[in-house]
Amino acid sequence: MSKQRRTISGRTAVITGAASGIGRALAQRLSAHSCPVAIVDVDELGLKETEASLRGPAMVKVLDVRDAAAQHDFAAEVREWAPQPIGAVFNNAGVAVASRVLDAVPEDDQWLWDINFGGVVNGTRAFLPILVEQNEGAIVNTSSVFGLVGMPTNSAYCAAKFAVRGFTDSLRQELRGTGVTAVNVHPGGINTNIVRNARFRKDPDGRGRSHEQMAQEFAAITMTQPDKAAAIIHRGVEAGKARILVGPDAYFLDGLARVAPTHYFDVLSRLESTLRRRKA
Ligand SMILES: NC(=O)c1ccc[n+]([C@@H]2O[C@H](COP(=O)([O-])OP(=O)(O)OC[C@H]3O[C@@H](n4cnc5c(N)ncnc54)[C@H](O)[C@@H]3O)[C@@H](O)[C@H]2O)c1
Repeated sequence: MSKQRRTISGRTAVITGAASGIGRALAQRLSAHSCPVAIVDVDELGLKETEASLRGPAMVKVLDVRDAAAQHDFAAEVREWAPQPIGAVFNNAGVAVASRVLDAVPEDDQWLWDINFGGVVNGTRAFLPILVEQNEGAIVNTSSVFGLVGMPTNSAYCAAKFAVRGFTDSLRQELRGTGVTAVNVHPGGINTNIVRNARFRKDPDGRGRSHEQMAQEFAAITMTQPDKAAAIIHRGVEAGKARILVGPDAYFLDGLARVAPTHYFDVLSRLESTLRRRKA
């Protein structure tokens, strides 16, 4: 399928997980590009902070993306409210769990699955009929670079992000020949609250780190700020990309997984120990 440019600036944008990180940055950027924004999150305070930073019209709602009925009601409310057709629906809300499979706490993994995969499916199902009726718009689902490679201590996260990728790619084929599309976003490390907001029981690497230490280590290795991520996602959707890689690390891991599809982790481990030796 050839890439078809589409304009989402000036159109209504729907964004889940807009109280923090990438979702907040998307709301701010799109609002600055004349998009009325409909934003949701479970974090009411964070959502209010996002709202206060916006430049244009906003519809704000506390909503748990796991609630399919609430997502349907929300879609109907957005349709009533939207001053412009919906240009894009960003199913962005997500959480993380750090655990080895041997130590997995089933309710933590279920929590993650229901938000990271169930929330994306709920948002897609709620808004897709509106986009199809408009014959315009993009469903933009946030997978991850961990939807391209499997990583230790992230089994539930990788499973949900691979599932988002499969679901979205499948939907995109169903939409061939229409004015609607489905897009996968694969961010590398972005400096957000994702690790701070993660469910954490103990250091999964057995190094005795606290949750806060892990959050700080994560922040130190991230290569992209949320506003940069939002710009890449916005431009990628407008360029008609089916798959948007965010950050140099996302491009590196994507390339590595292609040349070493079963051995990418060996390569990464060697790289990491070389870097550690040099640092020491
Ligand atoms: N930060 C990264 O390095 C990174 C990398 C790859 C993918 N991602 C993905 O990007 C997306 C955004 O994450 P972020 O990095 O901005 O993290 P973040 O923690 O800063 O923001 C996530 C937001 O989602 C909200 N949220 C959580 N559960 C929710 C629910 N049930 N209903 C509604 N909202 C809910 C949180 O309250 C928070 O405001 C997630 O899907 C995440 O998995 C992040």
